[in-house]
Formats: sequence, C-alpha cells, structure tokens
Amino acid sequence: MPSDITQRPAPFIWSGKSLGQARSMPGRFYTSREVFEAEREHIFLKHWFFVARAEELRKPGDYRAIDTAGGPILLTRDGNGELHAFANTCRHRGAQLLEGCGAKRSIVCPYHAWSYRLDGSLLRAPGTQDVPGFDAASEGLIPVRMSEWKGNLFLNFDNDADDLDTHLGAYPELFASHRVEDMRCVFRVDLPAACNWKMLLENAMETYHTGLVHARTVGAQTSLTFPGGPNWHAIQVQSDVSTAVLDKSAPPPFPQIDGLSDIARKGTFFTLIEPLTQLVFAQDCMWWLAVHPVAADRSVLSVGGCFPRAYTEMPDFEQRARPYFERWEAVAREDVAILERQQRGVSSVLYRPGVLSSRDDVVHTMNTWVAARLPAHLVGGSA
Ligand code: FES
Ligand SMILES: [Fe+2]
Repeated sequence: MPSDITQRPAPFIWSGKSLGQARSMPGRFYTSREVFEAEREHIFLKHWFFVARAEELRKPGDYRAIDTAGGPILLTRDGNGELHAFANTCRHRGAQLLEGCGAKRSIVCPYHAWSYRLDGSLLRAPGTQDVPGFDAASEGLIPVRMSEWKGNLFLNFDNDADDLDTHLGAYPELFASHRVEDMRCVFRVDLPAACNWKMLLENAMETYHTGLVHARTVGAQTSLTFPGGPNWHAIQVQSDVSTAVLDKSAPPPFPQIDGLSDIARKGTFFTLIEPLTQLVFAQDCMWWLAVHPVAADRSVLSVGGCFPRAYTEMPDFEQRARPYFERWEAVAREDVAILERQQRGVSSVLYRPGVLSSRDDVVHTMNTWVAARLPAHLVGGSA
C-alpha cells in the first residue's frame, strides 16, 4: 500500500475554493458514527423537514405514524379537523403507540392501556386513581412543532428555529403557479437504502448520472441550475412534456396544469429544501423524496406523488396515473442500487475525495451547507 496515498491530506471543498478546484467529501462524511451523531444534533433536530401531505390525514380520526431522526412521530387529525404532531411515545413508560396509518377514535397504548384523544390529551390512565397528585391534564402526548406550506406538512424539533416561511425564503414564489395546495397525494412507497442520507439527496440534485443509472428508464438528462436560496437549491430539466412519465412517444396522460408560469412550462424543477426534503415540480404533478436518516450507512427513502385534484377525479385516473407510479418507484430503486454501491466504495480505507465536475455543482453546494453546520474538527483536516 503506497504510504503517500493513505497519508496525504486531501483538500476538501468548503474552504472557499471554486468548483473547479472542489473535491467530493472525505469518506468519514458518509461513514462515521461521530459525524452522523453531530448531524443529528446540529442538522436533523434543528431544521424543518417534510413528513406528509395534509390530505393524507383527510378525515377526523386519521393518523399516520412516521419515523424520524428524532424518533417515532404520530400525526393526527382530531375531531375538530385540526392537525397535530406528537412524539409517538406513551406518557406512562414510553411504548410506541401506533404504527402505520389508519383511523381511530382514540389512541390506546398496547402496553398498559393508557389512552389518548386525537388532540393528544390523556383520556384514561388505568390504575392511577390512587396516585397522589396525578394530574391528567399534564400527561398528554408531547407535541412537536409542525407547519404547513400549501398542504405540505413539515416538522421541526427545535422550538427556537426560524419559522418555516423564513426557512423557505423565496422558494414558494418560484413554485406558486403549480398550485400544490390543490393537489392530492395518491402514491407513496418507502424504500430502505443501505447508504448515507446525503447520498440520496446529492444524487437527486444532479442529472450527471441519469444516462447510465437510468438507461432503461428516464435516460440521459441535462439540467440548468437556478440561483436558489440559503436553505434551498433548484435545478430544472428542460422538456416540453413532463419528465414524470417514461413513454415520450405518446402524448402525456394528463394536461399541463392551468396557469403555469413561463418558467414552469419549460420543464421539471428538482428542488432540495435543506436538509432532508426534495420536492419535484413537473408540468402535471408534484412528487417528493423524503429521507429518514437511520445511521451513517442506513436510510429510508420515502417517495410520494401528487396530482391536481381535478385529475384525480377523472374516471380513468388510475389507468392514466399508473405510468407515473411505475416511473417513480423504478427510478428510485435504480438510484438506491447505485448509492448502495457508492456507500460500499467510500467505505474503503483507500477512498479519497475525487474531483467534482461542473455537473456536480449542486452536490458541492449541498456539501458546503452541511459542513458549515458541523463542528470544524469533524469536517476539516485530512481524509
Ligand atoms: S407504556 Fe403505555 S400504558 Fe404503559
Ligand atoms: Fe437518479
């Protein structure tokens, strides 16, 4: 093993170098438990992340359990139609309350049957009648900060963080004409991925890989990078027809959304809202990638898709939408497969940061955003 390869300090990319001199990140950025724990503390627990669409909890009583970097969370719609987010954790001895999604009149803990209303208040706590000073009013489920932008529900574990509007900045303006507030979620799949959370999102923000990785599906694409904001980035794949379907020889199954802006008509926007959320705006739909970081080398990728409500009410909607569902899942699986290979590759003791191309520009921007929020000793120095 030549010592100069293993000993030589590698230059990293966040030191103000131009992209032409930038390199990919050191292996530990993707493999180290210490880096992952720092990301949990400084990134996952401090920033907004997308969890669901409001219409996924359409009726009073609906609930959805989700896993996050801060632990299991329960989304509910109470009897008055109000949405809530709570720790999915019993106030007795902490058992996880619900799994999956569905509808309930109340939430009953499967361990000792403490029960809660959908607004989180404690309903019954068997055997606590003789506990001196037991105050049911202060034993409700623990709420988590939630905010909604056009039907997109975001959570934040940090009560002192900026509000969601501030985090998003000018983002909503660029996508106003897609009117996602009128959309309905009709598709969801969760894919386990044996790779670091950042790989899933870096990959989602470059089209450099599409010709090879997606040779059998979307094929080669090119993209333009938009200026973005402090907490979001955007690229556009330009095409007159939606990139959400694979068969370009037939007319698209759905018409373009009425009233799209000139720029929105030009193609599909792939966007990242730091740190964990990709929203994609096409001429006829919106889809998302929401990443749940589990460990340095393990993640869960949730893919979801929405159409304008009027499309979902077409009598042959299911048939028209099927190619979109197939495309979303097939492309995501192709990405996961290559990223699991990337994870294995960067785990090599011989891996060294590689030269970035101009088509890795947003990868560079994203790496810089993450590195700026981690303690310097974890991201500086040599590989
Ligand atoms: S842990 Fe829930 S009732 Fe005991
Ligand atoms: Fe891809």
